[in-house]
Amino acid sequence: MLVAVLKGGSSLERQVSLRSAARVEDALASLGHEVVAIDADSDLVRSLKELRPDVAFIALHGPGGEDGTPQELLEILGIPYTGPRVAACIRCMDKVLAKHLLREAGIPTPDWVAFNSTAFRELGAADALEEIEARLRFPLVVKPAAQGSSLGVRFAASRDDIPEALVSALSYDDRVLLERHIAGRELAVSVLDGEPLPVVEARPKEEDRFNYEARYEIGRTEYVCPAEVSDDVAAAARDAATRTYETLGCTGFARVDLMLDTEGRPEVLEANAIPGLTDTSLFPMAADAAGIEFEALVARIIDLALEERGVAGPSRT
Ligand SMILES: Nc1ncnc2c1ncn2[C@@H]1O[C@H](COP(=O)(O)OP(=O)(O)O)[C@@H](O)[C@H]1O
Ligand SMILES: [Mg+2]
Repeated sequence: MLVAVLKGGSSLERQVSLRSAARVEDALASLGHEVVAIDADSDLVRSLKELRPDVAFIALHGPGGEDGTPQELLEILGIPYTGPRVAACIRCMDKVLAKHLLREAGIPTPDWVAFNSTAFRELGAADALEEIEARLRFPLVVKPAAQGSSLGVRFAASRDDIPEALVSALSYDDRVLLERHIAGRELAVSVLDGEPLPVVEARPKEEDRFNYEARYEIGRTEYVCPAEVSDDVAAAARDAATRTYETLGCTGFARVDLMLDTEGRPEVLEANAIPGLTDTSLFPMAADAAGIEFEALVARIIDLALEERGVAGPSRT
């Protein structure tokens, strides 16, 4: 098959994307496919129209990559693509929308409030901070509604930390969330075709505990897979992740990030429509723990993209 690997793009996660793509390209070549890597820029549509690949492997992360944008273009061109489809990508990328859908579905997610910059600039949202504090309590987490890789995520221990945290989050997106902080272990559950893979635990270095961005540097966080949690906790985390995947309408694959609260109950933070596929990423790590090597994982993801097209029929074009 002729497979186009979409990579790069202009998001802040461009470097992660290039690393994901390099690994995917190697795997596809070993599987015997003809691989053409396309850096997602203003020539993307023209390149795809010329190439007419059998399938596109989307190895893009962040806004402009996993928010439904390239997915929509591929729908228009009638080219099958990997990962969730447009609507699911939109739901995953928007943490506020995703959390509303999770809450409606009865899936635990930390309590939160969300605003856009207009609420602060024109409607005096800052005057509601007292009520917000009373409801969410300190510490809390401030983060942009649409971003990844912990960019713009800040921990606020007291009211004094709020302004700077808001400014930071608002520099990434026009909308921000203030979310109740869950002091507990961090888990991630990857879901492949609706089935949860083994749970991964992220164990950041103590000095990075509240420095979420720093942890993304390779080697600063230790990952344990399968996570050393009881069978009950693992089952609850996998169940919450699978329900999240379904609720957000994901297909193909996705990764769900969770926190374990002090009672050992998993709370869902977010779902990633295109999780990282680098050699240090959690999704390939979880697949490996389930006995699925990277090449087999890539082959499966391609198969799912083609099956999905078969099922969807003409509505895809
Ligand atoms: N409510 C929260 N309580 C505790 N830690 C949080 C909370 N929200 C985010 N974090 C920390 O910040 C990291 C990034 O947050 P997340 O919501 O997954 O956004 P993204 O990965 O898209 O940047 C999480 O992995 C976790 O370590
Ligand atoms: Mg995350």
